[in-house]
Amino acid sequence: MKAIYLTGFMGSGKTTIAEELSRVLSVPAIDTDEHLVTCTGKTIPTIFEEEGETAFRQYESESLHDLPTQGVIISTGGGIVLKEANRTYMKQNGTVIYLHCDPDEIINRLEGDTSRPLLAGKNKREKVEAIFSERLPLYREAHYEIDTTNQSVIEIVKQIQRAIG
Ligand code: S3P
Repeated sequence: MKAIYLTGFMGSGKTTIAEELSRVLSVPAIDTDEHLVTCTGKTIPTIFEEEGETAFRQYESESLHDLPTQGVIISTGGGIVLKEANRTYMKQNGTVIYLHCDPDEIINRLEGDTSRPLLAGKNKREKVEAIFSERLPLYREAHYEIDTTNQSVIEIVKQIQRAIG
């Protein structure tokens, strides 16, 4: 099986879905953010604070290229699609599934979250909406799009199974 790459906005449920899909398909799930945290020995907020977003994006791309391309489910950081090279790499080496989620639901889910530097501080709604509309066309380059808004994890996993046959 070629790698399954799960993409989508922060809070769209990529990691949770990857874990359930991993259980159902009996293949390991790996997360690009977790991998880069292990490699750098730093948390994501610390990387942003000490080295900036550009350095983070570099680690993120390296993390993607480090991971296997066969027999795995890979959940990705929400901004992995920003680099065209990453989008091309994922499409060439695996099946890319975009987990769509309505921005209103994302805002609800991420209320009180302090782990995402891009959404830190005030005006979370405006930040989510701006980043969302900028990225939507990039997410939509995926092989498949699944709407996760108001859906259970089990239902989303069934839809993914149907999509990939
Ligand atoms: C980011 C998403 C985060 C993490 C970092 C940047 C983004 O991952 O990679 O905070 O640019 O959307 P999740 O999508 O798992 O929250």
